[in-house]
Amino acid sequence: MKVGIDQISFYTPGYYYPLESLACDHGIDPNKYLIGVGQENMSVPSPDEDIVTMAANAAENIMTDELRNSITMVLLATESGVDRSKSAGVFVHGLLGLNSECRVVEFKQACYSGTAALQLACDSIRVRPNEKILVIASDIAKYDQKSSAEVTQGAGAVAMLITQNPRIAEIHKERGFFTADVMDFFRPNHSKTGVVDVKLSLDAYMNALKASWKTYGNSGGKSLKDFPYVCFHQPFTKMAEKALRVLKEVAGEEADHLSKESISDSLIHTKNIGNTYTASLYIGLSSLLDNNKTDMSGIDIGLYSYGSGSVAEFFSATIVGGYKSSLSTKAHNNIFDNRIELTQAQYQDFYYNPPSDALENQVFPSFSKGTYRLEKIEGFKRCYAKTNETLSLLTDFPSNTYDENEIKNAA
Ligand code: CAA
Repeated sequence: MKVGIDQISFYTPGYYYPLESLACDHGIDPNKYLIGVGQENMSVPSPDEDIVTMAANAAENIMTDELRNSITMVLLATESGVDRSKSAGVFVHGLLGLNSECRVVEFKQACYSGTAALQLACDSIRVRPNEKILVIASDIAKYDQKSSAEVTQGAGAVAMLITQNPRIAEIHKERGFFTADVMDFFRPNHSKTGVVDVKLSLDAYMNALKASWKTYGNSGGKSLKDFPYVCFHQPFTKMAEKALRVLKEVAGEEADHLSKESISDSLIHTKNIGNTYTASLYIGLSSLLDNNKTDMSGIDIGLYSYGSGSVAEFFSATIVGGYKSSLSTKAHNNIFDNRIELTQAQYQDFYYNPPSDALENQVFPSFSKGTYRLEKIEGFKRCYAKTNETLSLLTDFPSNTYDENEIKNAA
């Protein structure tokens, strides 16, 4: 039985900050960010967006009435969870109006957990072929202001429908796993931003790549010769270029055919969004499918998933014949075409000074361009709603709308 991705759709906020502007703020040569790190724009969530609204917005695009009634499981992967007890997926289940005969759970292991959710969904379908499972990965990558990692920030969610006889990508059973207890990147419970040991994180990513590639081979996996394209986890796009170099070194001549072109289409979306942690690999896969001009039907691709801490997996997929008609390329392009560029002050307010969600009561200004938004906190309960009208950045920008002391106290 063939099992895999029947639908894939991502959402990223309707606001962005150019990295050329960030380089000016940091007083450095923009080419360090544009060429050295390989990033062009950072998606910036508005104050009324979080991983729940992004997840629901990503999934809404592939929803039909039939699906709302037939999804049997929602697996939501994130490392920017909004509650230590309740799964973010339950909010999403409610917003999407899914059938109550459904299991919902949240997955966590840094950027890797989207892959854990995908593979568990595939295995579940192999046991219960008629199930339809919604896998969502949703994250906001946030680091300290002026830190070297600020340039890699981003936000987005990807929703994938996993079924038998999928219309987009068949996921193969062979997989290579790797785990090592490393403190390369983590986010303590008290902190809104990630703590990163840059050098250790780069080394841990590469060690895990080499090890999981080897175990993938031992599990009966394909040769690199079979893959014209490889998608890597992309904390920033230069990292995928470095990963390709390392994979070519360890794989030797079976990787001779792999070149920059083997990954370039998979990097286009991330260059314009930034890191999306759990969603990054799958936004990379969407980017490959959306931007590659050839017919990839029947082609095998390699996929590498990495989550700091650290856990990694190398696996593979076959692109299904006729996949193009099932893609959400138009919706994805629509988001990029309608994004609004932020000024430095707007970027700082949206990313670093949003109204706090840690207060007993809070109302959020309506800036989200998605279907769903975080409306308010009431008695510590998060209240989500459909977006009606959005405010204008010119007249209703948060700095003008909110009591500055209230924002500072809440931050
Ligand atoms: N023009 C062109 N290139 C330039 C340049 C210029 N003017 N100035 C510098 N560069 C190049 C450098 O030569 C370097 O290139 P190479 O990597 O090819 O050597 C590149 O720009 C970056 O320069 P630095 O190494 O000096 O940059 P940095 O120390 O400021 O670190 C960073 C950059 C790695 C993005 C860092 O900001 C970071 O902290 N990233 C977050 C951690 C991370 O993503 N780690 C990845 C593995 S962990 C993971 O994958 C999980 C996850 O999602 C977090």
